[in-house]
Amino acid sequence: MIVSGSSSQSLSAALAAATDADLAPVSFERFPDGELMAQVPYFDADEAVIVASTDSSDAHVELLQLQDAVREAGADHVTTVIPYMGYARQDAAFEPGQPVSARAMAKALSPGTDRVLTVNPHEPSITDHFDVPAETVDAAAQLADPLPADLTEPVFLSPDEGAVDIAETVQTAYGRGRVDYFEKTRLSGSEVEIEPRDADVDGRDVVLTDDIVATGSTMAESVAALDDMGAARVYVTCVHPMLAADATTKLARAGVEAIYGTDTLERAASTVSVAPAIADAL
Ligand code: R5P
Repeated sequence: MIVSGSSSQSLSAALAAATDADLAPVSFERFPDGELMAQVPYFDADEAVIVASTDSSDAHVELLQLQDAVREAGADHVTTVIPYMGYARQDAAFEPGQPVSARAMAKALSPGTDRVLTVNPHEPSITDHFDVPAETVDAAAQLADPLPADLTEPVFLSPDEGAVDIAETVQTAYGRGRVDYFEKTRLSGSEVEIEPRDADVDGRDVVLTDDIVATGSTMAESVAALDDMGAARVYVTCVHPMLAADATTKLARAGVEAIYGTDTLERAASTVSVAPAIADAL
């Protein structure tokens, strides 16, 4: 049976349809003191596939509870699908005294599961932190699906070299165009500086690609740079459309044509489903 966290309901339903599995009923409650209670009132299967993006601290707690609830209900085998794994970007102690949050989360989730799947984490090696088999699912190719067929001499561009593999995957799936990247320096959690390099974008349509759009600063700065460089239409695509706070309006003000993301996070921009990719991996 598929068991959904509160942040992954559409994706869980799509995955149940894709795998012909039953979707368990789940209820979510909050007590007056703020504590959470995620319950699986009816569970009748040997195997549980829990699908829960951990896009908030509450979602992490909820996932721990769901893992425990299905074991309590008799599941012999538990697979935990974390479509968007929160805290995964803190994959190292960047300054003295900092935690490796990705490791802390992985260690906490490991005892409740036999297997983990996560979609395009910022740093794939975070799977090493789990104490059970953990794999990544690459859903980037699907980001080509919503793009218009008539892109003019498209350039698939990542805001930094680290995400250029996503640009390459989307370009291959689209079937034509060039791949390039900018250089990015992060100044703070919400400020970045984009160095455009000498990408040839004049008069061309540009598809910006990244793993996550969080505050939107990276993409807004990139769109502004592309505008200065004479790019035609600029599309923003990402696997995880976090789009926190004013990210959507920031991008609209920057002049972006459209924002496309997947349903690892359920937002207005989640036009593409990762359900087929997860179904294959399962
Ligand atoms: C980090 O390098 C990631 O690949 C993204 O570029 C980053 O998370 C985007 O963050 P924001 O939208 O806040 O600029």
